[in-house]
Amino acid sequence: SKESSVIVLNQAYPRDHYTNISPAILTKLDRKLHLDPRHPLGILKNIIYDRFPDYARHETFAPVVTPFDNFDSLLIPANHPGRSKHDNYYINEQTMLRSHSSAHQLQVLQQHKHTQFLVAADVYRRDEIDASHYPVFHQMEGVRLMTPREIADGTIAQDIERMRAIAAQSNIVTSDDTTLHAGNAIQPGHSPEQIKMVMAHLKASLNYWVAGIFGCIGQLQQQTIPVRWIEGSFPFTSPSWELEVLYQGQWLEICGCGVMQQRILDQGGMGDHLGWAVGFGLERLAMVLFDISDIRLFWSQDARFLAQFEPGRITQFQPFSKFPPCLKDISFWLPRAAAGAATDSFTPFHENDLMDLVREVAQDLVEDVKLIDQFVHPKSGRSSRCYRIVYRSMDRSVTNDEINAIQQCVREQAVQRLGLELR
Ligand code: PHE
Repeated sequence: SKESSVIVLNQAYPRDHYTNISPAILTKLDRKLHLDPRHPLGILKNIIYDRFPDYARHETFAPVVTPFDNFDSLLIPANHPGRSKHDNYYINEQTMLRSHSSAHQLQVLQQHKHTQFLVAADVYRRDEIDASHYPVFHQMEGVRLMTPREIADGTIAQDIERMRAIAAQSNIVTSDDTTLHAGNAIQPGHSPEQIKMVMAHLKASLNYWVAGIFGCIGQLQQQTIPVRWIEGSFPFTSPSWELEVLYQGQWLEICGCGVMQQRILDQGGMGDHLGWAVGFGLERLAMVLFDISDIRLFWSQDARFLAQFEPGRITQFQPFSKFPPCLKDISFWLPRAAAGAATDSFTPFHENDLMDLVREVAQDLVEDVKLIDQFVHPKSGRSSRCYRIVYRSMDRSVTNDEINAIQQCVREQAVQRLGLELR
């Protein structure tokens, strides 16, 4: 758009070549679903809080942060692909919507007030469109610091024992193993004995947490729930893991975690501590626990959705009847550089630009967008793609006319804004 500034949460920011935040996203910023104790995301958040009563809670940090907060403070390198405009919402080059709750780690450390805390936050990512991806979702960060003294004097060991004993009585089957493999090493400068305790505390805490969550579901208490630790990699932790839970035949990734990089603790003025950090995605877990099959439902304002939940309880959602989908395909040639044009004046096609455009035009009427065909023309060398868009409302039947109008608008915008040549 042509205006020279963009208003986000009542503040004006100058636009620049980074600006890619869309009006559809701007409408989400003040919903704050995680602050509603009757919303499934708020219910899940509160269950996590209850499990960790001694952790300080932060849940109202504004989603507008700097790339320093979101990346540099976490030692994410300047050339890391995760910083791309294709994957993040930038307000301008200096300001963005946080893409993870880790963006607040350093800020809380610098307060020097808490050695254990949780941060619940709405986070924003440009991504594909399907039943489990939405450009806004919620995460909860957990950070636990400990001193070498607490590690040496048995305080930490005692806490580990307490949590292990409780988790052992639950229906989860997990491992406390702290063996490390090549490529997931402890940091130079860390003592292996101390880090073994930090890792054991991390695993005991998360096993204890998962046991608590799945233990809340009455019908699951008879089943065993396998939990596995997969070695992972994050610039801000080492060693690192992802925790997965086997549920209804599928391994669900529920969090990333690891031993915090000591440089982050140093920068936060807490360098005399060691620590672990974890980031949970709330939607994935809530979809499983509450039996919610489409991630868009979390944004529904329909009483048939909202009235089904009550604070403090995990109950299974009863879907109101599923309305019929309406499918539309869009085929186009990718843009190509004009003959003789400098390569840097040519904007290549990026799939997330199309996803964002469809979201903006169709809002929550779009359920899924998938590449169904592509080929390169043998003579001209041009690439063609065809995407199938599934439109469906969560609360009513859509008419073909209404969807045709939306599809027409998607087609026009694809030409105007992405330079695609429709076929
Ligand atoms: N911030 C990471 C993500 O969003 C998760 C994470 C948090 C990993 C804390 C390690 C430690 O994927």
